[in-house]
This record gives sequence, structure tokens and C-alpha cells, in this order.
Amino acid sequence: NRRHTTRTLRAMKQKAEKIAMVTAYDANQARLAEEAEMDIILVGDSVGMVMLGYDTTIPVTLDEMIHHAKAVRRGAQNTMMLVDLPFATYHGDPQVSLKNAMRVMQEAHADGLKLEGGREILPHVEVLINAGIPVCAHLGLTPQAVLKLGGYRVQGRDKETAQRLLEDARALEAAGAFLLVLECVPNDVGALVTEQLAIPTIGIGAGAACSGQVLVYHDVLGMHGQDTAKFVKSYASLHEVTRSALLAYRNDVKQSSFPTAEYTYEIHVDELDQLYG
Ligand code: KIV
Ligand code: NA
Repeated sequence: NRRHTTRTLRAMKQKAEKIAMVTAYDANQARLAEEAEMDIILVGDSVGMVMLGYDTTIPVTLDEMIHHAKAVRRGAQNTMMLVDLPFATYHGDPQVSLKNAMRVMQEAHADGLKLEGGREILPHVEVLINAGIPVCAHLGLTPQAVLKLGGYRVQGRDKETAQRLLEDARALEAAGAFLLVLECVPNDVGALVTEQLAIPTIGIGAGAACSGQVLVYHDVLGMHGQDTAKFVKSYASLHEVTRSALLAYRNDVKQSSFPTAEYTYEIHVDELDQLYG
């Protein structure tokens, strides 16, 4: 087992070794992420948007997260796997939050859980950490709050919201969070928070000073063929590759040019006689 732990990640920040993280949602994606030597695989609730066809992450259920996380775990036994707790599964009674968190830990064998939000979720973060669950925090643009925020927009642009974000980050670290995702905040805010905290930060649209970076699997591979956020860098265009492969197959079928002899099975002549009686 070569999985990272909360301690090895902390050591990476101290040695200024960058942490590479990517999302994955099924066993095949997880296996490829592990073969690419990712430090962390995140089973993000972005599964709702990139895999399940929802408009936001809000409809994603705990059962859906567990279903995908189990597949990822089967595909990547040797990589740290973090799982998002989905919308409204950690906002009421903290004991219910713990019960939800325990299901993901025990059914999917997660190495830790990610929760969006600042000081308002501290009671939930504390109850999880007290139970021994590594917690990754997530500040800045928190997509589960997209309706409240009024859209997907850069956060922490003015002094007051940047200050609030830093205070939230400090409080989450003090509560025992081992990792902090910063999404869609100005470069300087990413740098400031990274400098002020002892725990590593993982940026997504938060600049190069963060301790590591995370991107969505489908974004890295250019699987959508849609407009993506400014912070997305695509390293391939699988959308085009996939569509043209499917079209070529379809055309082969229509023109009877697939399957050729190369793709078909032979039978012995005496067996053929038996077959037809
Ligand atoms: O759900 C997700 O993919 C995420 C990352 C973008 C951080 O939360
Ligand atoms: Na998420």
C-alpha cells in the first residue's frame, strides 16, 4: 500500500513538493489516475454534472456518491481516495452528519471526506474528526452553494470576503482539517492562505502558490466539447477523438465494412455438416 496519509501530505508541503490531485468516478478512470501516479483521487460530487447529467451538484445523493466511490476504490487500491459529502448531508444534526460520513468510510473504504463551507460547518467537521475521519475542507467557490452565491463566480475578490475566507481557513485548520481545497479565488488569496496555514492547500483556479492542484477528470481530458471555466487546462481533446471513433464504427456497420474476416470466427467443415444436420 503506497497510499498517502495526512502526515505524508503535510511533509510534502514542508518540502515544497507539489500535490497532484484529479477526480475520478469509476474503476477505469481510477486505474488510469493511479497509473499516472496521482497523489490523491477525489470522488467529487461533480460526478452529478460530468457523469449523471445534472445541471448542478445539488441533486447528488449520498447513495450515488457511495456507488461511484466503491467503483473508484476497486480501480485504485494504492492511491489516497477522498470522497465529497454531497449537498445537505452535513448541515442538520451533527450526529446525522457522522452517520452519513461513516457510511462513506465503511461502505466505500474512503481515506477521508471533503466538506464545503467555513465556520458554519465547524460542529460537523469536529464530530467527524473526533470519530477519526480525515477531513478535507473546501472554501472559495463552493458549488453546493451555487444558488445562494448566484452563480459560479470568483470568490474573495474584496478585502472583506478575502479576510473572512482566511479566518474560515484558520478555524478549519484549528478544528483538525488536514487539507484545504481553494476554488476560484484570486492568486493572492491562494498564496496568502497557503502561507498562513500549516496544512497543504489544493487549488482549482486559486493560483500556482497552492501546495497542489486539482482538476476534474473530464476537464483534463477535454471530454465535454463545451466551454469550461478559465482555470481549466485540457491536456487532450477526447471529445473529438471519441465522436469520430463512434462515427467511423457506425459508418462501417452501415456500409457492411465491419466485421471483416479478421474479426469473425471459423468453424470446421465437419462440424458445419453436423450443425446443419
Ligand atoms: O466535485 C469536485 O470535483 C470538486 C473539485 C473540483 C475540487 O469538488
Ligand atoms: Na465537489
